[in-house]
Amino acid sequence: MVSRVIPVEVFDLVVFGGTGDLARRKILPGLYRRFLSGQMPGDSRIIGAARAEHTDEEFRSLVKEAILEFVPENRQDQTAIADFMKRLHYVAIDAKGEGGWAKLKEVMRTDVVNAFYFSVAPSLFGDIALRLKQHGIADDNARIVVEKPFGRDLASAKALNATLAKHFNEGQIYRIDHYLGKETVQNLMAVRFANILFEPLWKSEYIDHVQITVAETVSVEGRGAYYDKSGAMRDMVQNHMMQLLCLIAMEPPYHFDPDAVRDEKLKVIRALDPVQPNDIVRGQYLSGGGQGGYVEHSENEQSKTESYIALKAHISNWRWKGTPFYLRTGKRLRARASEIAITFREPPHSIFDDAKGWRENVLVIRLQPDEGMNLMVMIKEPGPGGMRLAQVPLDMTFADALGPDAEDVPDAYERLIMDVIRGNQTLFMRGDEVEAAWAWTDPIIAGWEARGDKPQGYDPGSSGPEDALMLMHRDGRRWRDIR
Ligand code: BG6
Repeated sequence: MVSRVIPVEVFDLVVFGGTGDLARRKILPGLYRRFLSGQMPGDSRIIGAARAEHTDEEFRSLVKEAILEFVPENRQDQTAIADFMKRLHYVAIDAKGEGGWAKLKEVMRTDVVNAFYFSVAPSLFGDIALRLKQHGIADDNARIVVEKPFGRDLASAKALNATLAKHFNEGQIYRIDHYLGKETVQNLMAVRFANILFEPLWKSEYIDHVQITVAETVSVEGRGAYYDKSGAMRDMVQNHMMQLLCLIAMEPPYHFDPDAVRDEKLKVIRALDPVQPNDIVRGQYLSGGGQGGYVEHSENEQSKTESYIALKAHISNWRWKGTPFYLRTGKRLRARASEIAITFREPPHSIFDDAKGWRENVLVIRLQPDEGMNLMVMIKEPGPGGMRLAQVPLDMTFADALGPDAEDVPDAYERLIMDVIRGNQTLFMRGDEVEAAWAWTDPIIAGWEARGDKPQGYDPGSSGPEDALMLMHRDGRRWRDIR
């Protein structure tokens, strides 16, 4: 398989919060990897911007350290790192004051793509946007990238959208949900819309239910202050899981084009029914395995914040009426495993006597780790003994099927940043989409807050709270094992 690198134009990318955690872990190492793949043409530059005073040299050593820490060793090429360093610059900026803006204007070139990555708290979005405009640094062709969390409810998301809209038009705003940058997540669209095989069956008539699982082993240690205000619903469901649900449920867009795709996702979000209280289970991990529980990691000993959530969602439209979507996500679970499992209905009539071996077809799309797809199909069990049926997987592990190319799969962030430079918004969320997602989320949260619901404790290393099992069992279904 030949790798194809789509060229990008020369750019100046400013990373506000350029010395922060996300920049160090994801953005800057990701840009280095794109540089290695030849996607940083000519004299494209990255300009780190943050409050502290640093020289270019100091910023370069910070980025070098980040590369050595977060890029796999086999991708650390010393000559390339040295060349990459030459592309890095630094400007100290006071987001709420005037310091540094004149210098930034001086540094930026007007004849290349200008992009500004707001890797800062949302409370600074407005200040930065205003100053970029006031100082004539960003024109109508500039692109801005904003990070999650995009608000904490509908009202704050609307306010953020309104603030950004004062200075930039929607075509310039790139709202990142890094799940959309994951290779397998994009593969969902390829599987659905580049094959004739699945689409005719992709409806409630043939699909019994859908399970979306994003299981993590990590705790929230060190992020308690953020997580207490967020919880799994705001941190994972409103954005990442909602995006996965949309890609499974949406109608075929007329083209793989930003508004065509986002229009279809928006229709799904708007068709989501309110979630009934007994269709939600919230959990909080307990202490165990020598580690503290959620309350020890939180800033509040009485915290009722959920580190786990499972819920049943219904989409009220012709395609999905009658097919529940079960979503679950949590921290400190048995394994890191994210997957989407689509369980088909049984054939309407069996001609075989072997009812014992009868199982449904299941299409499993493994998002991470071990990206791939599995289609469970029924076959005849080999050997004598009559017509006995067995369920076997048609397994495709992308790393095996694609060979060495699969190892060079770009990280979600690097892929998305390159899309910003190319000016392609398909994998970014539009303002109305984010608002619609909050409009669905808000009443769910308001409901449990009004009832004073407490999350159910679960053991670390387990598959979540007991009640989550019941959510499926009472419908005669079961969760797939987290492995
Ligand atoms: C982030 C959340 O957006 O996504 C984290 O804030 C979560 O809590 C992370 O751990 C999961 O991302 P990934 O790419 O590791 O699945």
